[in-house]
Amino acid sequence: MKDLVGIKELSRQDIEEILNTAKAFKEVLQRDIKKVPTLRGKTAINLFFEPSTRTRTSFELAEKRLSLDVLNFSVSTSSVVKGETLYDTLKTIEAYNVDYIVIRHSCSGAAKFVASHTPASVVNAGDGTNEHPTQALLDAFSILEVKGRLDGLKIAIVGDIIHSRVARSNLYLLSKFDTEIRFVGPPTLLPEQPPDNVKLFYDLKSGIKDADIIMLLRIQLERQNAAFIPSLKEYFHVWGLKKEAFSYIKDDAIIMHPGPMNRGVEISTEVADSPRSVILRQVTNGIATRMAVIYLLTQREV
Ligand code: CP
Repeated sequence: MKDLVGIKELSRQDIEEILNTAKAFKEVLQRDIKKVPTLRGKTAINLFFEPSTRTRTSFELAEKRLSLDVLNFSVSTSSVVKGETLYDTLKTIEAYNVDYIVIRHSCSGAAKFVASHTPASVVNAGDGTNEHPTQALLDAFSILEVKGRLDGLKIAIVGDIIHSRVARSNLYLLSKFDTEIRFVGPPTLLPEQPPDNVKLFYDLKSGIKDADIIMLLRIQLERQNAAFIPSLKEYFHVWGLKKEAFSYIKDDAIIMHPGPMNRGVEISTEVADSPRSVILRQVTNGIATRMAVIYLLTQREV
């Protein structure tokens, strides 16, 4: 495989190979010298057309840990602001003979477009509402670390499902395992016709009370062109995960969130900072998971 554009195209075996490789890289990251010479002499560029904290920094760290030369492309100070197209930006970068392009873009399909116009390996770091494959992989890696398995788990994904590329990639990934997937939230933010293997819950307590994993999502205001909820205050009142939930959720349920969190909207500070939260573990695992993806893309024939 030349690129990682989405989870949809991966098999269960592909996912397991990535997760096993990430486990090996996590061990490397716990050594004094956290770097391997594997990709010395190769070059990666991080092209972020949308803001990012976690994904951009962890891709950069992953690339540096693999000994890649790394270029970070800042859209706001580039010729994109003068009207240069994505295609011409890509061809300009390609002229430097780069080996890897990591791209985040507001348009669904942007990563696939770039992948089909360059010989470099392309990794999708989030395209519109379509997919965020490395987020789903690091989520699965974090679940495996804590629970030891993916099969047999009940996973409740709570919040703004219809605008979330994280929800979509997690749906594709978790559907390749024997999991029970729930979408929990107000009807305006859930799909009208979910896939057959997904159960819809319009009530927070019913949706999460016997779940093993509670995965919260940010309200994606930047992708909403209408009022999907009355107000953020009301959303928190009805759908925000607050410490009262600890009285009825499973004792060993874990709380996940891809970030960035909106404290006081989808999650309270007490829950975000509680021992049940694995949110910072997810951030840490982004490095090993992204190292694994880049490393495995290099195993292709050229
Ligand atoms: N989870 C995630 O994609 O976070 P960033 O937007 O900060 O990269």
